[in-house]
Amino acid sequence: MDAPVRVAVIGTGAISQSHVAAYRAAGASIVAVCDVNEASLAERAKAWGVERRYRDYHAMFADGGFDVVSIAAPTAVHHPATLAAAEAGVHVLVEKPIALSIELADEMIAACRRAGVLLQVNHQLRSSAAAQRARELIEEGAIGRVTYLRLRQAHDWAGLGVRPSFATRASSGGGTLLDNGCHLMDLARYLGGPVEEVYARAATLQYDVEVEDTAVVSLRFASGALGSVETAWTATGWEEGFWVYGTEGALEHTNRFGPPVLRHSHRTSPGTTWGETDVTTYEFAGGGPHARHIAAFLEAIAGRAPVACTGEDGREAVRLVLRAYDSAASGTPLTLAPVAAAAD
Ligand SMILES: NC(=O)c1ccc[n+]([C@@H]2O[C@H](COP(=O)([O-])OP(=O)(O)OC[C@H]3O[C@@H](n4cnc5c(N)ncnc54)[C@H](O)[C@@H]3O)[C@@H](O)[C@H]2O)c1
Repeated sequence: MDAPVRVAVIGTGAISQSHVAAYRAAGASIVAVCDVNEASLAERAKAWGVERRYRDYHAMFADGGFDVVSIAAPTAVHHPATLAAAEAGVHVLVEKPIALSIELADEMIAACRRAGVLLQVNHQLRSSAAAQRARELIEEGAIGRVTYLRLRQAHDWAGLGVRPSFATRASSGGGTLLDNGCHLMDLARYLGGPVEEVYARAATLQYDVEVEDTAVVSLRFASGALGSVETAWTATGWEEGFWVYGTEGALEHTNRFGPPVLRHSHRTSPGTTWGETDVTTYEFAGGGPHARHIAAFLEAIAGRAPVACTGEDGREAVRLVLRAYDSAASGTPLTLAPVAAAAD
């Protein structure tokens, strides 16, 4: 049996808990944790039973003794921490969005490639059982030719207000369109292929923050299909879903009405009505998206699978969001140049 993969975690805030749970479920071992916030570091390290604690990730990399680092700190930290990890020869799972800019993302991708370490971006939605089944159904032609994709992720910060690390451009790079929208841009590409044009509106309607809290982006895919990405911190509760419409059926996955399933609507029976269709429902047992995405990363490290979401994938999600910001600012639809081959 393989020795457990040894993991270090940078950032012990909200999302780090999903990382630690997922690594442990997959048999990996958390050996070191780092946070600039002493109280958070102490609390989480105690809860996780981790002895090695650091306030500075450079010191953690200098001490070494781990194979993988999860970078679960604010987005501004993703680039410098990834460069330090590559320098130390450690595989990187970096949170989304990969970086504050395309240039920084490129440096991260190049540094990991040069160092021979894997880089996976934590767009975990593409690893969900529902998204993977949806993609299989699309590829099998089960819904005919795809005409429209709708993707929504929205919430209200559990009624607690915007978390400080998300409220400033310097820390987060943007508001809900970058925070939630980069996930949806990735899922849009995963299910619908390359996106060629975006047309966006963004507004700050509820919170006293310097970033947008509500946004919608209209998409045009290279296939000719249309789409929309809806993001908001002005929802009520937690909303997440995707809808894929084709010439011969539709796929629907939402958390709004009980445990999420994938509904495939189609017209197989004669005599169905306007409102009623045939429906095939898929239910999924086993791990959630985070558990599956991190299990996939460990498979990639073991050489048994390709990286589930590459640095280039993360970069493209950010490129689409940044172009959407330009569209919102200019009030015009904007095309995207085809992605250039990655530079070394
Ligand atoms: N994949 C997802 O679904 C998902 C969900 C939430 C957040 N995120 C991403 O994860 C990242 C963190 O988000 P969060 O919600 O956990 O934020 P958070 O504010 O709850 O936690 C961030 C933690 O990082 C620490 N930190 C800040 N600078 C640091 C540094 N230089 N070194 C070490 N630690 C540092 C902070 O003290 C804090 O404890 C963000 O990039 C965010 O976009 C992803």
